[in-house]
Amino acid sequence: MEPYRIKMVEPIPFPTPAERRQAFVRAGYNAFNLPADVVTIDLLSDSGTGATSSRQDAAAVLSDASYAGRSSWFAFRDAVRDLTGYPHILPVHQGRAAERILFSALLGPGKISISNTHFDTTRFNVAATGATALDLPCPESADMDSAYPFKGNIDLDTLATTLAGPDGPKVAFVLMTVTNNGGGGQPVSMANLRATRDLCHRNQVPLFLDAARFAENAWLVTQREPGYQHRTPKEVASLAFSMSDGCTASLKKDGITAEGAFIGLRDPKLARQCEIQLIGTEGHLTYGGLGGHDLARLAQGLREVVDPRYLRARADHTAHLARLVNDAGVAMVQPPGIHALYLNAARLLPHLPPSQFPGHALACQLYLEGGIRCSEVGSLYLGSIDDNFDLTIPAPFELVRLAIPRRVYTQSHLEYVAGVIAEIAKAPERVPGYRILDADPFLRPFTVVMAPLAV
Ligand code: F0G
Repeated sequence: MEPYRIKMVEPIPFPTPAERRQAFVRAGYNAFNLPADVVTIDLLSDSGTGATSSRQDAAAVLSDASYAGRSSWFAFRDAVRDLTGYPHILPVHQGRAAERILFSALLGPGKISISNTHFDTTRFNVAATGATALDLPCPESADMDSAYPFKGNIDLDTLATTLAGPDGPKVAFVLMTVTNNGGGGQPVSMANLRATRDLCHRNQVPLFLDAARFAENAWLVTQREPGYQHRTPKEVASLAFSMSDGCTASLKKDGITAEGAFIGLRDPKLARQCEIQLIGTEGHLTYGGLGGHDLARLAQGLREVVDPRYLRARADHTAHLARLVNDAGVAMVQPPGIHALYLNAARLLPHLPPSQFPGHALACQLYLEGGIRCSEVGSLYLGSIDDNFDLTIPAPFELVRLAIPRRVYTQSHLEYVAGVIAEIAKAPERVPGYRILDADPFLRPFTVVMAPLAV
């Protein structure tokens, strides 16, 4: 059970089916355009959506917002150093700002960033410098049904040949995303991280972590990797940080706070370069675009997130939903991770070809039938689309991500979600496909306008 009880609550909206339909038409069938007050259960993101604790909010009241040298900064810096061991900590307002600052120092035209999988803003920030983002997920990740415990791993063989091959000198760094959000929320093993570190050292390429979900990765290591059962999540997380040259970390996830992120670095020269960018574009070195209250909440959130009781309850919460969805006969990426479940829409909706965006169709149906908001990870996000908005190259999978905010929903909320999924699964052939009316070439899902097709 959860190691906390509820002290403050807020009502959730219950729009009628007609109100949901109207709102969705106005939103161009794009969940990112929906006002939150027509959403009953919001599973769009686990980012910045967690519930803070009374200790976090107490620290926020006592926080200091001085322009320079605020005490809340020192509390934050010390909490991050205690966890990561990095000597240089740069605060920023969110993860993508960390990416922009670090990548502008290390990347540029002709350079390559290698990752197990770049998150979408990460890929955008790599491309924005003129560099290329190369994803090397491990081969086991291609089988969505297998129980392989570390599908977030990087493909070590291809990494070794790439670093040793003609493109090797162009590789500016390797970025390991823990957990691998773009790759089904799957964890990275310590063995894979250590082998990656060794390859990077041998080839004199720095290794960074994208540590947005560092605590959840550490928990899954203690549960799934031999030799780590008796280590605390904090020890495992610290070990992971110790194997890297630095990190970008959005703390809107495992900081359990609405805003905040940091860049951690070992190299003082690189840190100095990034600090100049930080001052010029985010804020002074001791706030980086964050309020004193954000820094104070984060310092406390970083302590709470590595509590094994909290992590066990969170993992069990997701596992409960996974069991119910499984019982309803709906397939998902196996084994289930922690921050999200990834439903296999292609399998549930075989009557919809990728050109009709089955992942988007299922996500829309969840909203229309149950007021549940979530997002597609499939051909709408990753496919190639021509000037007429027709799909030319589909994604290798058609998934729907149900992202679970931290400490927000109860077991019965998740049971409601499973009930709506089970209803859809009883007659999936009535779910219509969708077509694109308008889309941008970059970060398409956030701005796309869609319309349903006749069933
Ligand atoms: N890296 C990963 C792995 C992420 O999942 C995200 C954000 C970022 C970087 C960027 O961080 O949002 O603070 O700028 N993921 C959110 C999500 C948006 O819903 O998965 P940010």
